[in-house]
Amino acid sequence: MMNTLIPCSSSSCSNSSSSSTPLCLVLLLLLLSISCTTARSRDTITVDSPLAENETLVSAGGYFALGFFNPPNNPDRYIGIWYNTIPTQTVVWVANRLDPVDASPSFLSLSPDGILTLSSPNSSTPLSTTATTLTNPVAQLLDTGNFVVREATDGGDAAAWQSFDYPTDTLIAGMKLGVDRRRGLNWTLTAWRSGSDPAPGEYYAAMDTAGDPEVFLYSVAGRARIWRTGPWDGVQFSGVPDTVTYQDFAFTFTNDADEVSYSFNVLNRSIISRLVVNQTGVVQRSIWLASGRVWNIFWYAPRDPCDDVSACGPYGLCDPNDSPMCSCVQGFEPRSPQDWALRDGSGGCVRRTRLDCANRTDGFAKVSHVKLPDTTNCTVDPTVGLDRCAARCSANCSCTAYAAANVSGGARSGCVMWHSELTDMRVYVGTGQDLYVRLAAADLGSAPSQSGKSDHAPIALIVGLTVVAFLLACAGCYIWRRRKLRKSGPGTSASTISFSHEQRKEESIQDSDIELPLFDLGTIAVATEGFSNTNKLGEGGFGPVYRGKLGDGQEIAVKTLAKTSVQGLDEFKNEVMLIAKLQHRNLVRLLGCCIQGEERMLIYEYMENKSLDMFLFADKAYSASLNWQTRYRIIEGIARGLVYLHQDSRFRVIHRDLKASNILLDKEMSPKISDFGMARIFGGDETEVNTRKVVGTYGYMSPEYAMDGIFSVKSDVFSFGVLVLEIISGRRNRGAYVDSSHLNLLAHAWSLWNEGKSLELVDDSMDYSFLANEVLKCAHIGLLCVQEHPEDRPLMSAVVLMLGSDGASLPTPKQPGFARRRIQLDTESSSSKQDSITLNDMTITMIEGR
Ligand SMILES: *[C@@H]1O[C@H](CO)[C@@H](O)[C@H](O)[C@H]1NC(C)=O
Ligand SMILES: *[C@@H]1O[C@H](CO)[C@@H](O)[C@H](O)[C@H]1NC(C)=O
Ligand SMILES: *[C@@H]1O[C@H](CO)[C@@H](O)[C@H](O)[C@H]1NC(C)=O
Ligand SMILES: *[C@@H]1O[C@H](CO)[C@@H](O)[C@H](O)[C@H]1NC(C)=O
Ligand SMILES: *[C@@H]1O[C@H](CO)[C@@H](O)[C@H](O)[C@H]1NC(C)=O
Ligand SMILES: *[C@@H]1O[C@H](CO)[C@@H](O)[C@H](O)[C@H]1NC(C)=O
Ligand SMILES: *[C@@H]1O[C@H](CO)[C@@H](O)[C@H](O)[C@H]1NC(C)=O
Ligand SMILES: *[C@@H]1O[C@H](CO)[C@@H](O)[C@H](O)[C@H]1NC(C)=O
Ligand SMILES: *[C@@H]1O[C@H](CO)[C@@H](O)[C@H](O)[C@H]1NC(C)=O
Repeated sequence: MMNTLIPCSSSSCSNSSSSSTPLCLVLLLLLLSISCTTARSRDTITVDSPLAENETLVSAGGYFALGFFNPPNNPDRYIGIWYNTIPTQTVVWVANRLDPVDASPSFLSLSPDGILTLSSPNSSTPLSTTATTLTNPVAQLLDTGNFVVREATDGGDAAAWQSFDYPTDTLIAGMKLGVDRRRGLNWTLTAWRSGSDPAPGEYYAAMDTAGDPEVFLYSVAGRARIWRTGPWDGVQFSGVPDTVTYQDFAFTFTNDADEVSYSFNVLNRSIISRLVVNQTGVVQRSIWLASGRVWNIFWYAPRDPCDDVSACGPYGLCDPNDSPMCSCVQGFEPRSPQDWALRDGSGGCVRRTRLDCANRTDGFAKVSHVKLPDTTNCTVDPTVGLDRCAARCSANCSCTAYAAANVSGGARSGCVMWHSELTDMRVYVGTGQDLYVRLAAADLGSAPSQSGKSDHAPIALIVGLTVVAFLLACAGCYIWRRRKLRKSGPGTSASTISFSHEQRKEESIQDSDIELPLFDLGTIAVATEGFSNTNKLGEGGFGPVYRGKLGDGQEIAVKTLAKTSVQGLDEFKNEVMLIAKLQHRNLVRLLGCCIQGEERMLIYEYMENKSLDMFLFADKAYSASLNWQTRYRIIEGIARGLVYLHQDSRFRVIHRDLKASNILLDKEMSPKISDFGMARIFGGDETEVNTRKVVGTYGYMSPEYAMDGIFSVKSDVFSFGVLVLEIISGRRNRGAYVDSSHLNLLAHAWSLWNEGKSLELVDDSMDYSFLANEVLKCAHIGLLCVQEHPEDRPLMSAVVLMLGSDGASLPTPKQPGFARRRIQLDTESSSSKQDSITLNDMTITMIEGR
């Protein structure tokens, strides 16, 4: 094919305008009716036909183009390669990053001995080198995006020089990141200096071959390491555990005498994906979405504080979902408890008990689901199994830990041993590897929880007694409340009430002796400026909610209970009892209550960002400010709050009225579940309850609850599923009882899922800022939660695991509740219950006989 193109481009067609190209084509087709049919431009440069500034090479299949280009807002000309198949010019390789041309005319020419040269009136810059002298060289742009110089008579494989050996900031399919030991090449990715300057910038990614090889992201300033991938575990990098979810990709890691390299390939030619180190020091993998005509970044790093290589210091374990995020590995304690108390874990941890290797009493503690520590100083032996690895590590007193080097296919083979401090470990949910850490006998088995969570308690104690008492969760909270009361000073009479006696009978709570600050009505009136309208936040289920400010500056939300409400008092007590006992960072916190005469009020912490429904549905500006990362965190937070309610708190609590307006958002946009007026506490062995009084909100109610009054934790799961779909789509679920022209959200999500188009569910206002795999995972989980039959829906604890997983192995959802039943209901609705159920987002109460 080469030879067919050369006559074409070197004769009358060279420098041809596009109008004369068809002529050339016709000629070609007449001569040889093969392979040239799609080539509208040439794909080669020969000695006789340099590339002029106004020309481009296009690879044979039309996938890539090479030519001169101007970066945005930059008058200088560069030679680059970009995708020819997508409308947005996306440069993947630049030939002359440091030597732009600013004069015309310029040419890219090939010298007779095979050197590519960029010539402009006043300069001539060689762009390539060759080890061997070529006699009849040709430079060709291949369909892979590789630009090669080779002997014209040789096949494509025998390149004397290729652009793939000199990556710029982008890795495309087939390119390698690593080192070629034989030829002394480093395949590194170096970011552009800025969006308009392709010169090498501040950040680069390179393979460190010492120990067990891993890729590091560096900042040039001080050669500081910012992030690392972790070692390759046979399937993926230990620190990039979502790799396995990319179904249309194949990843290759090579580690032999000749080279250490990482590369990827796409299994379907129509997938266009790239890995880029961007100017702000982020490694991002994106995919071209033809439908949206945008690059969707579906993975990037560093992403959270735990990606920072020094987040928790030596022997520290980082968990971004935990607070504080740093903990110590079993058998270790913080080096500086004061710093840790101030949330600075970077000093790391020290051993509790000195090792006693000589007496052979040391052992190993297994730390599960981690990103393996920095492997720079490791020794690796791929030939021994885990048992012999353990024996070896045990026998060598300098060995601090070991792990399997290869976990491919579920097998655990190979041996990595550490001989220095273990740094940069983090924990993953569901993924990650097992690490075995050497400990003195005294520290073995002391902590049942692998991640050293038990270390929190001693730290907390020290802190509580010394520095910041109010930062503490459990014990501190109680102390703090009392202090706060004393501080409120004269004029406010605050005392403490106990609900234990009368409530015990009603709610059958066994061990309750809760004490809760009782606020004086006067104090509340002052705080809310006399319950003024300007301080009114909204209307709750049973009365208005006001914003207020206590004497000490604390902002509060006051939920009043309307005097007219008949059922209100029970619900009020219920809520007080419940919330006072429930302490979780994803549940709104009750600060106290006020009972005076007929007045009943609940005092909550004030939430700066009001509620989720406002962000999702109220107005475009708000929903646009809610990016995917925040939405995802909100979904995770709600899920954790629910796990706590359903399983982890002392009671089994079913919320029964989970909806967007009951999810409050604090300053940091962390979600807090609120409004427990409807909540029910379950007895130990009760799993579901049948009630004649159906309360809740249509659109969020599970079919079995709305129709048969049966509720269980699975009805909350249903509501959660609806919420997840609403968060993804920014659309309200209109419930079952709307006319069929407005497809309900669940039915819509279900049909998109079946067509494999779940990404279309995404709220337009997110503007493709989302990570596709996370969105797909959430949509999938949302659909699992809204399945018609309660027994099919996952428990919230399973949902949390799913959220933490890669999403690859989730079960297939069945049809959602309501999507099918609607027809049935429509016929039914001609009878009695039609009127009461037309409202969408109002909490309604429906008394219904079964
Ligand atoms: C490129 O520019 C040269 C003059 O610089 C001109 O002669 C030639 O026709 C142009 N070719 C194309 C394809 O525009
Ligand atoms: C080439 O260099 C000469 C002298 O160094 C200078 O006067 C001229 O402007 C340059 N030409 C261009 C096109 O830059
Ligand atoms: C390339 O890698 C080799 C071996 O790892 C190293 O000695 C050399 O300094 C590296 N060169 C660059 C430019 O990073
Ligand atoms: C490749 O992807 C395209 C578009 O997504 C699809 O139509 C085609 O069937 C896929 N081909 C294969 C072999 O999977
Ligand atoms: C680099 O990528 C990150 C994450 O995708 C993004 O937030 C940042 O804006 C990007 N920087 C530039 C200069 O594009
Ligand atoms: C070994 O154990 C003995 C007794 O248990 C103790 O006296 C000695 O100090 C230990 N050796 C080391 C090196 O710790
Ligand atoms: C590896 O060893 C060197 C030299 O002993 C040391 O400076 C460096 O901190 C070690 N790196 C790690 C990650 O332990
Ligand atoms: C222990 O391991 C280190 C690092 O591989 C090695 O240098 C040393 O020789 C080993 N010691 C023994 C006793 O095997
Ligand atoms: C890892 O283990 C798998 C399965 O046991 C094996 O096929 C593969 O070759 C191993 N990889 C390396 C690098 O040893």
